[in-house]
Amino acid sequence: MRFDIVTIFPDFFVGPFDHGVLSRAIATGIVEVAKHDLRAFTHDRHRTVDDRPFGGGEGMLLKPQPIFDCIESLGVSSSSAVDSSEESREQGSHFVAPIAPKPTRDLTRQSVILLSAQGKPFTQATAHRLAKLNRIVLICGRYEGVDERVNDLVADEELSIGDYVLSGGELAAAVVVDAVVRLIPGVLGHADSNRYESFGAPDVLADDPADGKTSDGVPRSTHGSGGILDYPQYTRPADFRGMPIPDVLANGDHLSIRRWRRKAALAKTLHNRPDLLARALLGDEDREFLASLGYTDEG
Ligand code: 6GU
Repeated sequence: MRFDIVTIFPDFFVGPFDHGVLSRAIATGIVEVAKHDLRAFTHDRHRTVDDRPFGGGEGMLLKPQPIFDCIESLGVSSSSAVDSSEESREQGSHFVAPIAPKPTRDLTRQSVILLSAQGKPFTQATAHRLAKLNRIVLICGRYEGVDERVNDLVADEELSIGDYVLSGGELAAAVVVDAVVRLIPGVLGHADSNRYESFGAPDVLADDPADGKTSDGVPRSTHGSGGILDYPQYTRPADFRGMPIPDVLANGDHLSIRRWRRKAALAKTLHNRPDLLARALLGDEDREFLASLGYTDEG
């Protein structure tokens, strides 16, 4: 998997990619991350990347020319799609593939993503879809926005990491890289360790950008683990500052442990993310328990 990050702050990523899972994935060669400084694609003395919006308004926009030139230099835009081979890379800045018309692009192998607060929500389902690609280009928006022609002609999709405003797409790009990389086979120690956590397994089938449906055409929850949050966990000591762990976790009865965990996960979800319950996969016992906590399907 290769990531290309297009940014005016290439040094921003020095920290996030140098720790833990991500740094190991890069060190072992499973993942390659290249940063591209937008200013290197400007032609004026001041290396200008932004300009004022037509029609007036606050702030500055990233202008299209450096972004178009940068993407073309990456060789991702030809209709033959992904070209991350040594051969094409060695041609470096001499090789410029014109931006291919969107319908001719092979989105099963690569995606050019614009990160902005106006994007579609980035979810665990999105991460699972992206983890199957072999090349992802992340364009970090800055200032008050990006010339819309980047969206219209360059980006395959526009993503946002949540309903709040960041001053740029760099933090969002780091979030996307982290969430995607840990889903690539061989990156985490245990093949299964990302399957049963919050927002886990059922997502695998979801999230087709073309129609928002699953691969079998049936819309379903965008979240996994049946669509609820993880259960709470405890480690030693069993009594910490007078606060004991729940007895059931220490008694070795795995059936009652499983029941307790399901209930604790439901209670946490009701408390922190009641919105998830409407889409979650719930059994009769789950509904009964939630009803005892005051939850009704009708909300
Ligand atoms: Cl991707 N960019 C910016 N600027 N703000 C955001 C975001 C992205 N996602 C949530 N807020």
